[in-house]
Amino acid sequence: MFPDLTSDDIFRIETKRLWLRWPRATDAAAIKAFANLAEVAQMTAEIPHPYPAGEAERFVFQARADNACGRGLVLAITQKSTERNVIGLVAAHGDQTLNIEIGYAVAPAFWGKGIATEAVKALVDTVFRLTKAERVTANSRVINPASRRVLEKCGFAYLDTGLDNLPARGGLHPCDRFDLDRKGWMKRLAPRLLPSMLQQVRGRDTPPSEAETAAQ
Ligand SMILES: CC(C)(COP(=O)(O)OP(=O)(O)OC[C@H]1O[C@@H](n2cnc3c(N)ncnc32)[C@H](O)[C@@H]1OP(=O)(O)O)[C@@H](O)C(=O)NCCC(=O)NCCS
Repeated sequence: MFPDLTSDDIFRIETKRLWLRWPRATDAAAIKAFANLAEVAQMTAEIPHPYPAGEAERFVFQARADNACGRGLVLAITQKSTERNVIGLVAAHGDQTLNIEIGYAVAPAFWGKGIATEAVKALVDTVFRLTKAERVTANSRVINPASRRVLEKCGFAYLDTGLDNLPARGGLHPCDRFDLDRKGWMKRLAPRLLPSMLQQVRGRDTPPSEAETAAQ
């Protein structure tokens, strides 16, 4: 699903304030420091609570294995301006279809500063640029308005609400489901791209839309 480019651990994404890079064994303590908090774990499908000994190390190993074989793209969020400890995680995983599902978490000390939005936007841009994915999906527990807001700010559309399996939460829980398709992503992206970049993203034969022409 993911190309050779992301399956080497020198791959990284730069945003205005952040580096998104492969997690490392040395990140385990920083990941544990926020992943073991109830307010973080309870909102996720995969983070166990209480957080078992060795779980952060297992997570890093699994993330690197997924990245290396192109099954996923799991990246640590670090700030450019400071000592670059891991302050959050973003993840994208593909299935046999052209759908990719994302997840994310940020350490509570950094909530409300736009970190998740900046990281998720960059991850989604990377997914659509580097893979053939047609759709990126995300689920958010109905009791998680902050996550819902992140998805809205990243251009995702609300689809419906239903019971989804959250293995680490012990079964089915009501979740809001969202998606962003390639067309919707292009619409969000158009004002930020130069004409030549647009041609690369969409393929040479597709004429620019009115909005894109206006943005030029
Ligand atoms: C969800 C989460 C990633 C958001 O991270 P963040 O870096 O604080 O997100 P951002 O700052 O980019 O955006 C948060 C938005 O939610 C809003 N928000 C926060 N709490 C809210 C609440 N209780 N009700 C409504 N909106 C809320 C913020 O005001 C902000 O929106 P704004 O920019 O329009 O003001 C973080 O809270 C987290 O890690 N939670 C635990 C794990 C989790 O929920 N992961 C997602 C599950 S897939």
